[in-house]
Amino acid sequence: MKTLTERANKLENDGIFLGGPVKFFETAGRKQLITLLSKGLTPTSKVLDIGCGCLRGGYWLIHFLDKGCYFGIEPNTEMLDAGLKTLLEPELLNLKTPRFNPNSTFDFSIFEEKFDFIVARSIWTHASKEQIQTMLDEFVISVNPNGMFITSYIKPTLFKREYNNSKWIGISHESNQPGIARHSLSWIWSECRKRSLNVSEIKGHEYNFGNQMWIKIQRD
Ligand SMILES: C[S@@+](CC[C@H](N)C(=O)[O-])C[C@H]1O[C@@H](n2cnc3c(N)ncnc32)[C@H](O)[C@@H]1O
Repeated sequence: MKTLTERANKLENDGIFLGGPVKFFETAGRKQLITLLSKGLTPTSKVLDIGCGCLRGGYWLIHFLDKGCYFGIEPNTEMLDAGLKTLLEPELLNLKTPRFNPNSTFDFSIFEEKFDFIVARSIWTHASKEQIQTMLDEFVISVNPNGMFITSYIKPTLFKREYNNSKWIGISHESNQPGIARHSLSWIWSECRKRSLNVSEIKGHEYNFGNQMWIKIQRD
């Protein structure tokens, strides 16, 4: 059996986008799981992974969660299919029955489920402000009363400004061009308050790596 990094290397050699550099592939998935565990994830939690890609984080969640508890949205079906084939052990799909949907409109109700955790790694770092507003609206509809949105973001700086264009920027089902969207915590906070949501950063190297930081969003 190949290691996870060896499997990620194979995906990359096959031309599949990994969601980030191969050297961080294992770290990204492991830290996502650790972050959710630190916020109360249990094997029976229902988890929706937005833009789950080739399952960089999904690999860990599908292993940990009970059957029927993992849901992923990914419009780049080539990327997802390659991850399903190359990363996951063949018997895992039958054992855990993860469910997937390719919608690109951030429709979180497509599975007709309520979620304890909605997670988005490296999604708000490419999404427009309108897309983030849609995700927050969908979160309110699709989350269980004590559920939470765990999403990563990158702050703007003096030289790398707030992203105000109306479209996704970066690799996707529609583009091969890399790109980063930065959104300030004050803008995210104001959008959360309009929906009676609270937001806080999840600080610490045990959860974060690189230039993205996790934030937690929950109902008041
Ligand atoms: C940087 S990758 C991150 C993938 C994954 N979350 C991870 O951490 O490995 C961004 C992902 O968002 C997906 N994506 C792009 N547009 C999307 C949309 N409208 N809805 C959902 N996912 C989208 C891309 O196809 C890609 O898989």
